[in-house]
Order: sequence, then structure tokens, then C-alpha cells
Amino acid sequence: MKSVTIVVVAATVAATATTCSAWSYTPSMTYSASISVNALQKYQTMIGGGCSGAFGIACQQFGSVGLSPSNQDLVTQILFDENIGGLSIVRNDIGSTPGIVAGDVSSILPDCPPTPEGPFNYVWDGNDTCQLQLTQTALKYNPNAYVYADAWSAPGCMKSVGTEDNGGFICGVRGASNCSADWRQAYADYLVQYVRYYEQEGIEVSLLGAYNEPDFNPVTYASMESDGYQAKDFLEVLYPTAKAAFPNISIACCDATGARQERNILYELDQAGGSEFFDVATWHNYQSNPERPFNSGGKPNLMTEWADGTGKWNSYWDVTGQLAEGFQWALYMHNAFVNSDTSGYTHWWCAQNTTGDNALVRLEYDAYYVSARLWAFASYFRFARPGSVRVEASSSAENLYVSAYVNANGTVAVPVINEAHFAYAVTIEVAGVTDVSVATAYLTDNNHNVTMAGQVEVDVVVGGGSGESGGVKFEATVEPRAMKTFFLS
Ligand SMILES: *[C@@H]1O[C@H](CO)[C@@H](O)[C@H](O)[C@H]1NC(C)=O
Ligand SMILES: *[C@@H]1O[C@H](CO)[C@@H](O)[C@H](O)[C@H]1NC(C)=O
Ligand SMILES: *[C@@H]1O[C@H](CO)[C@@H](O)[C@H](O)[C@H]1NC(C)=O
Ligand SMILES: *[C@@H]1O[C@H](CO)[C@@H](O)[C@H](O)[C@H]1NC(C)=O
Ligand SMILES: *[C@@H]1O[C@H](CO)[C@@H](O)[C@H](O)[C@H]1NC(C)=O
Ligand SMILES: *[C@@H]1O[C@H](CO)[C@@H](O)[C@H](O)[C@H]1NC(C)=O
Repeated sequence: MKSVTIVVVAATVAATATTCSAWSYTPSMTYSASISVNALQKYQTMIGGGCSGAFGIACQQFGSVGLSPSNQDLVTQILFDENIGGLSIVRNDIGSTPGIVAGDVSSILPDCPPTPEGPFNYVWDGNDTCQLQLTQTALKYNPNAYVYADAWSAPGCMKSVGTEDNGGFICGVRGASNCSADWRQAYADYLVQYVRYYEQEGIEVSLLGAYNEPDFNPVTYASMESDGYQAKDFLEVLYPTAKAAFPNISIACCDATGARQERNILYELDQAGGSEFFDVATWHNYQSNPERPFNSGGKPNLMTEWADGTGKWNSYWDVTGQLAEGFQWALYMHNAFVNSDTSGYTHWWCAQNTTGDNALVRLEYDAYYVSARLWAFASYFRFARPGSVRVEASSSAENLYVSAYVNANGTVAVPVINEAHFAYAVTIEVAGVTDVSVATAYLTDNNHNVTMAGQVEVDVVVGGGSGESGGVKFEATVEPRAMKTFFLS
């Protein structure tokens, strides 16, 4: 089988080489392609892009290693301003560490009681290991920011291992041994109390999560294990408790390490009869890619953490093709939004004093450097704002990736990624939208960071495209190895 396949492939390549000029393109040669968007075919509602200041990293963004107050503000503005980075999700870590320990997030319950009867002496320090300041400053630049409060572990007393670290289970879920009481209600109340403290600060928590990577534990930092059955046992307590206190809050499940791992948890949760006890399926992109729709019963899904992990700081757009480059992130996001109906994408840290590659912005004392990953986020989310709806879009070329989003006010964002090493001349037809008159292009490549790059008037097409109601049409160029977002207004 294998040798036959190789012969066939070789024959095809030889035939192609003699019959067409595919090997002779020059960097200035232009190919053409067509893009069609159908605004009448609607998919998921978008939440946006984001990042986190967990594990005390928010303190670095707010001066602990020398970033001056004016640069603290500027870095946060670069990330969250609608006209710069365009982010809108802040993922905060609901700390489980008693007291202040460098690199950990302090718990609102420093003295864990001996039994679930209490006493629960909650403490709010108006700081939350610098996450309150991160959230407040993000909200200053994006008043609609979506706050995701997520616990890595329950307080130690509520778990089978007795500590916040080293995994273990919430006491009260099936399979949790070494427990003398059921702590599920106590843990639910504790999570709600955290939301209440943010409410007292005037901040609405949009999404509440009880887990971080429950498939990847035990580990030596704050961590807790759960499969889908165990998640059912806890979420059936958390869900009504949280909704009673905050009717508008959404509940997350379950921040698994990869899309496949998340699917398994969701499947078991459903088997256990718990599919109604969450609102948003949350997953990380570390161990597996999204690839296809989630089994979330029609509920939205959100990628809530990912970064290079072990690499050196990489600020490039497209130099080596390494996974942390901005161009690659543009493609990861495309795949998640289009193939898995993902509503948003959250980078791991926002800003960190480091030589590594876990943050969107690298800090070095009072200096800061922006990675091109942020420009990939911005190319989507400066134009497809929170609340926009993804609509059908396709391109005639395999290496030209397109998605499209209709904003609440009727403006349309069409981000196009050209993976070829040559430019494409494109005809873009948008059916189902007649209420726009110009298309403004924003270019991101090795030399441009979401830079305005031309504006054309669109032609109105009567009954054109795939919609009965007509649409608009325009011509444009998409540069090689670039992302170009067309904003129709
Ligand atoms: C918040 O707490 C951290 C220690 O966790 C401290 O370094 C920082 O100065 C505090 N920030 C404010 C605004 O009080
Ligand atoms: C059982 O719980 C106790 C008390 O919380 C703890 O000290 C111990 O390490 C736990 N044992 C195991 C095997 O987790
Ligand atoms: C829930 O959201 C609605 C619509 O945004 C708002 O009018 C209402 O005040 C919110 N309710 C609470 C309890 O926050
Ligand atoms: C901050 O970054 C600099 C340069 O990368 C490094 O030398 C220093 O150790 C870092 N400081 C802290 C506290 O992380
Ligand atoms: C684009 O951003 C990078 C940092 O990501 C910066 O070094 C570069 O100067 C910027 N280029 C332009 C044209 O603004
Ligand atoms: C419509 O919404 C987009 C995205 O929020 C915004 O950039 C644009 O200015 C708005 N346009 C109008 C005409 O309100």
C-alpha cells in the first residue's frame, strides 16, 4: 500500500510540473481567488480575546519588578483598548493559598474551618494578588470586559488531600476517599463569596469556574482532579447556588488541558445527567486541538488558556513558523472559530517580567515588548467585537483562510489570512448585507501591526451571492504571509 501511494504521488507531481507554472512564481506575482460571505447563515456569538494575571504575575504588570505607573497603564491599554490590542477577557485565579506567598494567589478564606459547619471567616484585602488592579485597569480601557473568575483548587480543608496542592478531589464527589464530610456546598458558597467581593468593587463577574486542568493533576501547585461524573456531583451544587446569588452569571466547565480532554469531560457529564449544570464549555489548547464542533449541547465554548510554555520570548509575526509566532496564532484562532464554533481565545499571561514566552507582553523592569501574537488577536477582535455573530465564509483557495463576523450595529469584519508566499487578488462578495458603503483594510505582517491599508467603496449587488436579499462586493489584495481584516461600515 505504502509504495503504491508513493508512486502515485510522484507521478502526479511530475505531471503537474510539466503542465503548469506552479514552480515559477516570483514574490511579485499575484494569484486571484474569490471569497464569499453569507451573512444570513449565522453561527456562534463572539466573546473576544483575553489573558490572565494568575499566580501573582498581575503584580509584575502593576509594578513589582519596576514597571512605572505610567507604563502599567500603557501596557494595560495596549492589551485592552478597542483600538490597540482589542482584548476583552480577563481570566482571574480564585486563590486558594492562606496568607501572602510569592507566586501564589491569596485565598479569601485564610483559616479553613475544621468542618463544613464553619466558621467561614472570609477576608477581602481589596487586592486579590494584584488581579483587582488588573481587572479595574482593563475595565478602564474596555468597560465591557468579560471577567472570568476561575479556581485552580478548593481550599485544602475541602479536599481529599487536605492541601491546595497535589490534586485530590472535592470532598463529597463520588470516588473521593479520605474525606470525613461533604464540602461541596461550602466550596460553592466560597466561589460565590469571591464573586460578591468583586460585585462590591463594582465589577461584574461574567463567568465562574471551579476547575483548572482537572485532567492534568496532581501537580505541585494549586490543583484539583475531576472527571465528568465528579464534575456533575459538584456542579449540581454550584449551579443553583451561583444562580440564586447572581442570576446573570455563567458557570464554566471545566478548563481541561485540551479540546479532546474537554470533550471527554463533557461527554461524561452528560452521561451522569449533569449537562444542564454549566453554561460555557471552557478548554485549553495545550494537549489537543479543537478540530471539530464541541459536544456542549449547543452551549458556547471558550478557549481559556494557552501559551508556548517552554520557549524563549518570541515577538515575531512570521519568521520561522514556530508555534508562538503571531501568524500561527492567527491560524489557530481561525481553526477554533470556524471548525469548533469557539467564541473566544484566551492567552495565558497578559504581561510578565521574563525572557520566556508565556505572556503577550514581555516586561523588563520598566521596558515592555509586545509580541505579534497580540496583533493576531487584534486583527480579529478590534473588528469582531464582543457580541458579534460569526457568519458563513469561504474562499476558493486552500491557503487563503477566511472567517466573517457581523457586529451588533451591522458593521461586518472579514479577517483573511494568506498562508501563501505570494499575494492574492481577491474578489469579496458579502451576501445578506446591504447597509454598508466602504471596506477598510487593516494589514498585519512582518512590517505592519493592524495598520490601516486602504479603503474602497463597495458595490451593491442585487440578489447576488447566496442570499436572496442581495449584498455587496469589492476587490482587494491580500499580501503574502499576512492577515488582512476588511471592516465593512
Ligand atoms: C497587592 O498585593 C501585593 C502582594 O500580593 C502587593 O505587592 C501589592 O503592592 C498590593 N497592591 C496594592 C495596590 O495594594
Ligand atoms: C488524608 O487527609 C489528611 C487530612 O486532610 C491528609 O493529611 C492526608 O495527607 C490525606 N491522605 C491522602 C492519602 O491524601
Ligand atoms: C441581569 O442582566 C440584565 C440585562 O443586562 C440587567 O438588566 C439586570 O440588572 C441584571 N441583573 C442582575 C441581578 O445583575
Ligand atoms: C526581570 O527581567 C530581567 C530581564 O529579563 C531579569 O534579569 C530579572 O531577573 C527579572 N526579575 C524578576 C524579579 O523576575
Ligand atoms: C509592530 O510591533 C512591533 C512589536 O510587536 C514593533 O517592534 C514594531 O516596531 C511595530 N511596527 C510598526 C510598523 O508599528
Ligand atoms: C459599530 O460597531 C463597531 C464595533 O464595535 C464600531 O467600531 C463602529 O464604530 C460602530 N459603528 C457605528 C456606525 O456605530
